[in-house]
Amino acid sequence: MRIAVLVSGSGSNLQAILDAAASDPDFAASPVVVIADRDGIQALDRAAAARVPTEVVAWSAFTDRAEFTKAVCETAERYDVDALVLAGFMRILSPEAIERFPILNIHPSMLPAFVGAHALEAAIEHGVKVTGVTVHFVDERVDHGPIIAQVPVTVRPDDTVASLQARIQEIEHRLYPSVIKAFADGLLEIDGRVVTWKDDA
Ligand code: GRF
Repeated sequence: MRIAVLVSGSGSNLQAILDAAASDPDFAASPVVVIADRDGIQALDRAAAARVPTEVVAWSAFTDRAEFTKAVCETAERYDVDALVLAGFMRILSPEAIERFPILNIHPSMLPAFVGAHALEAAIEHGVKVTGVTVHFVDERVDHGPIIAQVPVTVRPDDTVASLQARIQEIEHRLYPSVIKAFADGLLEIDGRVVTWKDDA
């Protein structure tokens, strides 16, 4: 399976995917392009270091979400990808993208709690004792699509956004590659909102 990884920032999840693809001979998802919504981010350096082609589709160059989405999809299609993997991608794609590709996303909360870009701050402010990580298929609503996997993370009384994020990212870096691997192996079945993992034994 050929995947495009979409990024906007540091790219630590991208790194985990690149590492899995490089080190696990059974990892059936091949990151063939990394697409960024801006230039100058660390994720692009990580892709270059792994010799994966990079493309910048600059959000700032578009006035229209649909046009931006079209450009992202056309870029992915040039690399003949089968799926989009969002890894810290901070833009909402319009529905056209969902019609063209299966799309996976990773979100730092136990969805449906704390959707949006400030999930860690929101969890701390709300005073929850447990938050976590969710990997889900993208649908037409933000942080809403069918949930593939979730791992809880305890919030400590003295947690800051940074300390909580460090523990969340540790989980993310293990969870996302394992979900992508299962997806590429055809082990994920979707029935409405419910995703089941087929037994690969
Ligand atoms: C991750 O925490 C992910 O859950 C969220 O954005 C963050 C991206 O981090 N969607 P990185 O760029 O992969 O380091």
